[in-house]
Amino acid sequence: MTETPPDPSAPGASAPDPSTMCVLPWIHLCASIDGVYGRCCVDDSMYHNELYEQEDEPVFALKEDALGCAPNSRYAKDNPDRTMDLAEAFNSPNQRRTRLAMLAGERVSACDYCYKREDRGAQSYRQDINRRFADEIDFAGLAERTAPDGTVEDFPFFLDIRFGNTCNLRCTMCTYPVSSSWGAVQRPSWSSAVIDPYRDDEQLWTTLGENAHLIRRLYFAGGEPFLQPGHFKLLDLLIETGNAHQVDIVYNSNMTILPEHVFARFPEFKSVGIGASCDGTGEVFEKIRTGARWDVFVRNVRRAKGEVDLWLQVAPQRDNIWGLRDLLEFARDEKLDVDLANVLQWPAEMSVANLPEEEKQRATVELTELIEWSAADGFAKIAEHLTALRTYMNAPDEAP
Ligand SMILES: C[S@@+](CC[C@H](N)C(=O)[O-])C[C@H]1O[C@@H](n2cnc3c(N)ncnc32)[C@H](O)[C@@H]1O
Ligand code: SF4
Repeated sequence: MTETPPDPSAPGASAPDPSTMCVLPWIHLCASIDGVYGRCCVDDSMYHNELYEQEDEPVFALKEDALGCAPNSRYAKDNPDRTMDLAEAFNSPNQRRTRLAMLAGERVSACDYCYKREDRGAQSYRQDINRRFADEIDFAGLAERTAPDGTVEDFPFFLDIRFGNTCNLRCTMCTYPVSSSWGAVQRPSWSSAVIDPYRDDEQLWTTLGENAHLIRRLYFAGGEPFLQPGHFKLLDLLIETGNAHQVDIVYNSNMTILPEHVFARFPEFKSVGIGASCDGTGEVFEKIRTGARWDVFVRNVRRAKGEVDLWLQVAPQRDNIWGLRDLLEFARDEKLDVDLANVLQWPAEMSVANLPEEEKQRATVELTELIEWSAADGFAKIAEHLTALRTYMNAPDEAP
């Protein structure tokens, strides 16, 4: 990694290399379910699932390239020098190194999840985000905004704080500590099913209160956001401080619990979007989303779709590849958009990349038909996602 950002005024200086660059380290911070800060929600350095598989309580050492950890997290005791608040994490040594590396056109190890997807032909979160902010952020000006040591003087206007893992479901591809329902049957004796390092973190709430006027975008997932007390507390903080009207909110929700009172809060915000997680219809939905009922999901989707921007969020995987046709028909009937970009990579055995060759060939035929059907009906984005899924499944390199 270099310590000197490229000189934007140098002849020929331009936007950073689009094949490695991601705008998120300049505008965003993620705070994971168990209290590790990340460059985004797919930052490899944030996740330590293997620690929760240990019979005896392990040392909660942060990975070398992690940004840091929250004071009320399990990591704080074992990493006192890397315990910090949200604002400090945004300019932590590793976050600053990341900015400098990206400005120099280098790949960053913590961002492997995105690079691996791209290498297999799938769309990555990085690409999606860069496209989304292309009109709002001057990419060519990022070097100028970045101090020689990588510092950026702003507060991240886009936050993804996972206010705990409370969830009513146990989806087959999910796990503990992401879902407390998985925790109820899977947790080691030294840990609790419910984890929430932020709700009572006074420093966090002070920082959020002081910077509420700078927040423009929130992403809520979890756990299940509509079961998270911290999520409601943040909505209320933004409403009470008069800042909600300038904030766009995006959710991923399982849409099986939808408290009526959220509909009183939503109009206060600039916009609300819900990616309703839907991995199939009927039996396929209920098989993957263990504990969920299809009829409840459909009722809640119909209740919400008139009030917010709602689309179906699909994680294409081994167990729904043959249910995508029904899902697309459901979406068309309900006049809902579908996002199929979140192709499942983990657990590896559930990835379409690891289907038997013969099934891949049959699935290729199925996907090709769905691509033609979507393209002919004017659903270009769905056709694009399905094409990326087909490429990802058939990529010749090593499966993840
Ligand atoms: C972890 S969930 C949290 C929010 C909410 N509980 C939900 O299910 O939408 C966020 C998104 O990740 C997806 N997801 C869950 N496990 C996954 C995995 N192993 N790989 C990729 N996406 C996954 C879910 O389907 C959902 O769309
Ligand atoms: S609903 Fe979301 S958090 Fe809960 S188990 Fe399913 S994917 Fe995980």
